[in-house]
Amino acid sequence: MEIFIDSADLGEIQQAHSWGCITGVTTNPKIAASQKQSYNFKDRILQIAGLVKYPLSVEVIPEDISGMLEEAKLYASWNENIVVKIPMSKEGLEVTSILEREENIRVNLTAIMATNQAILAALSGASYASIFYGRISDLGYDPGLVIAETSSLYKSRGVQTKIIVGSIRSMLDVNKAFLAGADIVTVPFRFLKQMAEHPQTEQTIKEFNDSWREMRAKNLIHLEDGSVSRPATLALVSK
Ligand code: E4P
Repeated sequence: MEIFIDSADLGEIQQAHSWGCITGVTTNPKIAASQKQSYNFKDRILQIAGLVKYPLSVEVIPEDISGMLEEAKLYASWNENIVVKIPMSKEGLEVTSILEREENIRVNLTAIMATNQAILAALSGASYASIFYGRISDLGYDPGLVIAETSSLYKSRGVQTKIIVGSIRSMLDVNKAFLAGADIVTVPFRFLKQMAEHPQTEQTIKEFNDSWREMRAKNLIHLEDGSVSRPATLALVSK
């Protein structure tokens, strides 16, 4: 079970990385284009790669075979952790097969909406197959079923391709994707933050700490060695 962050924002990636829970980064052209200030794309990718030493997916724009190959090789030459994202299509499958089998470049075959496509992704040799949770449900289909079928097929046949689930629209999608069999879920920063938070947790911690502070304020709990005259029940905490 792994979580990647779906972002090209350095601040977000840095923060999520500091929590010690993420092991990869995914970007796509829309995410890259949604940054608020103008920036140099190569510099940004290299900054991210410098910050986190794990797989970083960068997506090609051309849709023809030679264009995809050329751009994929360029991105892969920037840093050893770059995984090239290739869109699912007949051309994309051919490009994936060449990159994985002849060029030793890892591919994340992306925008997968159906189990049939995930089967082809595995057979093309892709390191990762990205199934788009939110976009599948937008069409009225059950993304959990696509993930579960893919996971069961991959596991029973010993397929090495890892299932990444993207297009996450809520925290609940993350849980459902893992429960359905995702190896990795790539999560936008706002949901990652939400995952760590719960009002009842905050309330509980506040209640615990308030009672501690109250006792300290009354000088009834001591932290110093050899402190005296406190109730026996508090002796355990006074180290
Ligand atoms: C996954 O790798 C994609 O970057 C992403 O999750 C696409 O999701 P969207 O439906 O939010 O565009």
